[in-house]
Amino acid sequence: MTVLALTMQKGGVGKTTTTLGVGTELAQAGLRVLLIDLDPQSNLTMALGINPEELQHSVYEVLLNPTAGADFAIVPTAYGPDLIPATLELAGAELTLAGRFGRELLLRTALTETRYNYDFVLIDSPPSLGLFTVNAMVAADEILVPLQAHVFARKAMPQLESTIALVRQSNPLLQIGGIVVTMVDRRTSVNQLIEESIRETYGDLVYATVIPFNVRLVEAPAAGQPISRYAPDSAGARAYRDLTQELLQRYGIKQTTTQGTD
Ligand SMILES: Nc1ncnc2c1ncn2[C@@H]1O[C@H](COP(=O)(O)OP(=O)(O)O)[C@@H](O)[C@H]1O
Ligand SMILES: [Mg+2]
Repeated sequence: MTVLALTMQKGGVGKTTTTLGVGTELAQAGLRVLLIDLDPQSNLTMALGINPEELQHSVYEVLLNPTAGADFAIVPTAYGPDLIPATLELAGAELTLAGRFGRELLLRTALTETRYNYDFVLIDSPPSLGLFTVNAMVAADEILVPLQAHVFARKAMPQLESTIALVRQSNPLLQIGGIVVTMVDRRTSVNQLIEESIRETYGDLVYATVIPFNVRLVEAPAAGQPISRYAPDSAGARAYRDLTQELLQRYGIKQTTTQGTD
């Protein structure tokens, strides 16, 4: 049982796409997967073909009353993973929850028992360093960092590292579990230089698999389908399959596993 938070204090770097791509592939490999949408924009929820307006429960209620656990808010998806969805309610929740005692522990508390029902829990966080991102980092064992192959990537990592140092006051064992370079166009030399420099600095933390820039990955969420269903032969789908295999190797899980691993 591993809880991974996909965190980066920046939008548009591939957090949601990677949560979805890896989450569905892990489920495909027979693992029990729970995805948690902690972004008020509900991108992850909608990309799984679920309409937030039709939901009875959401992650908002989980955060409001964490000692009730998280099970009541879990919905199955058509693509393998279970989901704790986000709705627009979450947008106003930050203020409501800000005054709570132990406000950064809400998600961790709610998952106390639920996490043991899954092999992997993947938490998709919003782009800002607000209460939700901190809740994701406090609930997580490790952070999986999607790093866009962009000139600003070099600045984003030190920021994330100092945030992790602060969050360790509440979650002392938190560490970066891996870095995935996303939206890579290997035809451009700038992209290649950035990728190389990320590898030089972060070494083995960086996954060998890179996620290429692939327009299919933009279309899939609009169709409410994961890339593995929407365009299984696309470069994007292949990259997330490879990344998931590499992740399973890192965690010592055989790729043909069809049972739990806790
Ligand atoms: N590898 C990729 N190639 C092309 N477009 C991508 C890729 N990964 C993500 N995108 C697109 O870029 C936008 C931002 O990605 P997203 O995963 O939503 O980032 P975040 O969750 O970090 O804000 C979305 O429109 C998404 O479809
Ligand atoms: Mg997102």
